[in-house]
Formats: sequence, structure tokens, C-alpha cells
Amino acid sequence: MSDYETIIASREGRVQVIQLNRPKALNALNAKLIAEVLEVCRAADADESVGCILIKGSEKAFAAGADISEMADKDYDHIYGVNPFGEWDKIAATRTPMIAAVSGFALGGGCELAMMCDIIMASTTARFGQPEIKLGIIPGAGGTQRLTQAVGKAKAMDLCLTGRMMDAEEAERAGLVARVVEPETLDEEAMKAAATIAGYSKLSTIIAKDAVGRAQDMGVTEGVQAERRLFAGLFATADQKEGMAAFMEKRAPVWKRDR
Ligand code: CAA
Repeated sequence: MSDYETIIASREGRVQVIQLNRPKALNALNAKLIAEVLEVCRAADADESVGCILIKGSEKAFAAGADISEMADKDYDHIYGVNPFGEWDKIAATRTPMIAAVSGFALGGGCELAMMCDIIMASTTARFGQPEIKLGIIPGAGGTQRLTQAVGKAKAMDLCLTGRMMDAEEAERAGLVARVVEPETLDEEAMKAAATIAGYSKLSTIIAKDAVGRAQDMGVTEGVQAERRLFAGLFATADQKEGMAAFMEKRAPVWKRDR
């Protein structure tokens, strides 16, 4: 457990759990919360004993967006010049694999934070949306880009222009969500997936994440070339030697960190 103000950070084996914890504001994401999430993500990246980060909210809300009360009186000079949302990009740059377990509202910055994670698991109660248009703004933490990549132009335009929410089933059909589970099993299922990822060689999970991420940043030909370089690089690692030897010897691998 930890002494953070806006999150509860805890460890379960090799999984770093971050619970967003501003229940009175439906976990609205203020600067303090983003700074605290970033601090934990950076620590996880630097810690070989952390193999996966699991971010979750409450039953009612993963997060209802960036904190509107903190933004309401800001001007262009501040938002563009000081660039407070640049801090969010640093969370997106986390190298350790990240799972978002979403129950209830994931709106605006809440949806954007979930989309910065590598896998979104949702409870049937989840509601995703980019309702910024209702406030006279647009998504400002990558939503127009990541949502469009995840669900395509048609649905991204629909969500960003109408501000409507989509439920978990629609979000899964559209490709935003990896799995939908019953509300009472979300924590357990998300932890199971996180522990599975965390059980592998951290190096290979980081490189797998990097390789899949390339698909979104470049064309297929360039992406495949980048993947090939990353793939080849893994053949210089002890975990590749051990992983393949263990398979052929019909035993569980002992990753470098455990030797
Ligand atoms: N920022 C600050 N406070 C918020 C908030 C937010 N994004 N979302 C909810 N809250 C607060 C409410 O003000 C309310 O506080 P009080 O009890 O002190 O009045 C409390 O959380 C509970 O909210 P509601 O009473 O509104 O709860 P509800 O169940 O009736 O409605 C909701 C839930 C539909 C999610 C509604 O709260 C809502 O529409 N929230 C705003 C959603 C939104 O516009 N998000 C985008 C924010 S902008 C953004 O994120 C920019 C970006 O891209 C980075």
C-alpha cells in the first residue's frame, strides 16, 4: 500500500496495481492524479520485479474525464504553452505492459487513459465516450487519434461529434475492448491476465508491446521491417535461449531474473 493522495498503489506478486481513487469526483483526472500514476509507472519501468501494471477505477467509474474544475478557467497560453497534458503522454510512453480494467464510466480523459493501456478489459457496465464536444472542446489527451485507430473513422467521428457513450458490447465489437466480463469477475479476470503477462520474460513482453505498437505508427511494410529487427534482437537474449530450451526439454522456463 502507499501514501498517495489520489490513487491506491499496491503490489500483487509481479503485478503493480494502480487504483484511481477520487470517488467523489468519479475519479476525474486532475494534475495530482496524473503525476501519481506517472510516478508509479516510472517506478515499474525501472523495477525488473514488476512485469505488468493494472489500472482500475471504482465500480461506478474508471474515470469520468480530465478534471473539468481544474481546466475551466485556463486559457490557450496555458493549455498550449505550459502543456499540462504533455504529462499524460509520459504515461503512454510506459514500457511495462499495462491493462486497464474498466467498470462504469470511461469518458473523455478516462477513455484516453484506458486507451493508453495495452489491453482494455471491461465489465458489462462499462461506458466509453469522448463527450468533450458538449463542453465546447475536443479530446486533448490523444483521443481523436487512439480512438480512430482502435474503432475506425466512422465510429470515432460518431463518438467525438455526438458525444454519445458506447456500452461494453459495442466497444468490444468495435475493437476498443479486448474482453468483456461480468462485473463481479472483472478484478479477478484482469488480475489473471496481468499475472500471466507478468510471468513471462519482461524483456520479451516489452518488445512484443513495442512491435505491436509499431503497427499503429507506420505502414505495414515499415512495420513488418521494424518487427523483424525487434524479433532478431531477441535472439541475443538469455531468455530466448532459455525459453526455447525449456520447451524442447518439456519443462517450465527459468527466466534470467529468477536465476
Ligand atoms: N471533472 C470534474 N468533476 C467531475 C467530472 C469531471 N470530468 N465528472 C464528474 N465529476 C463530479 C461531478 O461534478 C460531481 O461532483 P459534485 O458531487 O461535487 O457535484 C460528481 O463527480 C458526481 O458526478 P455527477 O453528479 O454528474 O454524476 P452522474 O452519475 O449524475 O453523472 C457523468 C455521471 C455522466 C459521468 C457526469 O458526471 C459527466 O457527464 N461528467 C463529465 C464527463 C465529461 O465531460 N468528461 C470529459 C472531461 S474533459 C476531458 O477529459 C478533456 C480531455 O480530453 C483531456
